[in-house]
Amino acid sequence: MIETLAISGYRSLRDLVLPLGRLNLVTGANGSGKSSLYRALRLLGDAAQNSVVASLAREGGLPSTLWAGPETIARSVRQGDHPVEGTAPRSPVSLKLGFSDETYGYSIDLGYPSPPPATAFNLDPAIKRECIWHGGTYRKASALVDRRNNFVYLPTGRDEEPVMLTQNLSAADSMLASIADPQRAPEMLAVRESIRGWRFYDGFRTDIASPVRIPQIGTFTPVLNNDGTDLPAALQTILEIGDDEALKRTIDDAFPKSRVHIEVQNGRFEVKLHQHGLLRPLSAAELSDGTLRFLLWTAALLTPRPPHLMVLNEPETSLHPDLLPALARLIAAASQKSQLIVVSHARTLIEALSETPQCKPLHLEKTFGETVLSDATLFNRPKWQWPSR
Ligand SMILES: Nc1ncnc2c1ncn2[C@@H]1O[C@H](COP(=O)(O)OP(=O)(O)OP(=O)(O)O)[C@@H](O)[C@H]1O
Ligand SMILES: [Mg+2]
Repeated sequence: MIETLAISGYRSLRDLVLPLGRLNLVTGANGSGKSSLYRALRLLGDAAQNSVVASLAREGGLPSTLWAGPETIARSVRQGDHPVEGTAPRSPVSLKLGFSDETYGYSIDLGYPSPPPATAFNLDPAIKRECIWHGGTYRKASALVDRRNNFVYLPTGRDEEPVMLTQNLSAADSMLASIADPQRAPEMLAVRESIRGWRFYDGFRTDIASPVRIPQIGTFTPVLNNDGTDLPAALQTILEIGDDEALKRTIDDAFPKSRVHIEVQNGRFEVKLHQHGLLRPLSAAELSDGTLRFLLWTAALLTPRPPHLMVLNEPETSLHPDLLPALARLIAAASQKSQLIVVSHARTLIEALSETPQCKPLHLEKTFGETVLSDATLFNRPKWQWPSR
């Protein structure tokens, strides 16, 4: 389970350190930084897939993703005595993402390539520093694998030379995705596999032309794709090897006296929902957006192969408030098997989730353009230390 998540220099997340629990509920007003937090987590996930540089470039590169405020916000500015002013930067431009769980910590630090390269790919940031360490907080002595620019090495004791793993890792490649050395750096594989298992769901397309509404070739699907196109196969997999009772209960909870079944014709799978009062079941093409979305969340959350971490961005989208308590029960049940981070601003969902004992509310606020965790103080902020460049 991830215990601490840290983000620095990404959009409005100038310096955010979050303590995480089993079921984390991220809330906040419009513009408080919820989506930025979601995207920062995705970027961290991209590091293990080696696509973090490309993803950042797609967001406009460092010029548009870097924190746009001053490097530090002076106390006189916070007290309202002085306007916000830029100062000469003291440290190099840097966007940092990191987390730690019970065993390991990982951080990645991105900046501008140096010296300015003669290339057209000028939105590509460079990976400057990466580190895996043992335990919750980084200390130089607890580093297990270290990367500085193109060098990746195992730091060793005081009088010994570090063991070099490579000297020519490209600035666009994450060490997590590039180095596989189970003998010398087993923790690299452990961290990589744990991040690769993270699952992100960011709403689903359910418009009339959406592939979710069209019968699909079905294969064994223990994990719903994040676009939801394999919904019928995922539901069928739950019915065959997953918690079919929970599936039936959930459908009945949301749509009383309804049941779902999957029709298979020539290898193509189609969702059919038998609803109370109708003479024939309705297919995915005929279901309302909300009904279809609820089925998608059901398939995602009742996965027979629960991941370490599941991140849900605004699952309430286009669901009627009446359905939200059922969705909350589904989310609470999923958090028994996976760690969950749920971003939401639907009051009914927030209220229902807040009632579950394992729920950790994370309410974001903005002060001076910067996202902060409400009621965070110097004393309850988790310990976090970034490896220096
Ligand atoms: N580079 C940047 N530096 C500082 N702030 C930024 C930067 N880019 C965007 N922002 C601001 O960060 C804030 C957070 O945006 P975000 O999309 O995360 O909000 P949100 O909580 O998801 O809001 P909503 O509920 O409206 O979706 C916005 O107010 C945006 O203007
Ligand atoms: Mg948002």
